[in-house]
Amino acid sequence: MKILNFGSLNLDYIYQVKHFVQPGETLAAREQKMAPGGKGLNQSVALARAGAKVFHAGCIGTGGDMLRTLLEENGVHTEYLCRVEKLQGNAVIQVDSTGENCIILYGGSNRMITKEQINETLEHFSAEDWLVLQNEVNNLEYMIEKAAEKGMTVVLNPSPFEAFLEKLDYDKISWLLINEVEAQQLSGETEADAVWKTLHEKYPQLCLILTMGANGSYCFTSQEKIYQEIFPVETVDTTAAGDTFTGYFLHGVTRGLPLKECMEQAAKASAICVSREGAAIAIPMRDEVENSKCAGLKD
Ligand code: RIB
Repeated sequence: MKILNFGSLNLDYIYQVKHFVQPGETLAAREQKMAPGGKGLNQSVALARAGAKVFHAGCIGTGGDMLRTLLEENGVHTEYLCRVEKLQGNAVIQVDSTGENCIILYGGSNRMITKEQINETLEHFSAEDWLVLQNEVNNLEYMIEKAAEKGMTVVLNPSPFEAFLEKLDYDKISWLLINEVEAQQLSGETEADAVWKTLHEKYPQLCLILTMGANGSYCFTSQEKIYQEIFPVETVDTTAAGDTFTGYFLHGVTRGLPLKECMEQAAKASAICVSREGAAIAIPMRDEVENSKCAGLKD
C-alpha cells in the first residue's frame, strides 16, 4: 500500500510581527525567515516522519530546488515531481505575538499541474493505494475523478477553502479533513454533531475529521465518534499544525491502528508543531511524539 500526495510545495517567507498589519499600516517585522512549506509538502513530511511510505507529486518551479531536497532528506519519494518554468509557489506568513498566523498564498508552480502529469503519475498507483489532496494545486477535480476510477482511497483536506469546493463530487472521497470554518462552509452547521449529521446524510461513505483549534478535534465514521482534546503547550507558531495532524492521523489509519490511537498521536504531533517556529521544520519525528515529555506535553 502506497500513499500519493499530489500537493503544493511553497517557499514560506515568515515575518514575526507584534500584530497583523492593518490596512494602510507599514509595520516593522521583528524577524524574517524563509523556510520550506506548503500544505502538500508539510503533509508529506508529516506522513514520512510518522513512518509512512509517501510519494509526493507536484511541480518544482524557479527557486524551488531546496523543496525537493527537503522531501528527499525526509525519506519522501520525489520521482513524480515535475519541473516547470514558473516561479515556485510561495507564501507570505505573518506570525503575531500569540503565535497565530495569517497567510498570503501565491500558487505559481503549484498551479501548473497538467492532466497528462496526473494520468502518468496515477499509472503507478492502484486500488490499494491512497491519494491525499489539499486545495493549493490546480486540477483537483480531475485528480479525484481519475483516482476514484482506479478505486484508490481519496483523502481531501479542502484548504484553503474556495466556493468551487462545495460542488466537488464528495461521493468519491473517503476521508474529509476540515476545520470548523470549512465545516460551516460545507455543511452550514457550526456544532460538530450537526456538521457530521448533514455530511453523513448527503455522503454516507464519507469519514470525517473535524479540527476545532483549541477546542480539540472529532473523528466521525458510520461506526464511531471520537473526541480528542488538545495537548496544552505554549504556542509559538500555529503554522502547519493542521498539516501535522493530517499526516500523523493518516499514517495511523493507513496502518490500520484504532482511530482513537490515530487521533491521540495526531493531536500530540500537532501540539509539538505549534510549540516551535516554522512549517515543515516544526513537524516532529515519530519518537518525539511517542515520548511526549520531550515537548513538555502532559502525560
Ligand atoms: O498549512 C501551512 C501552510 O500553508 C504554509 O506552509 C504555507 O505555505 C501555506 O500553504
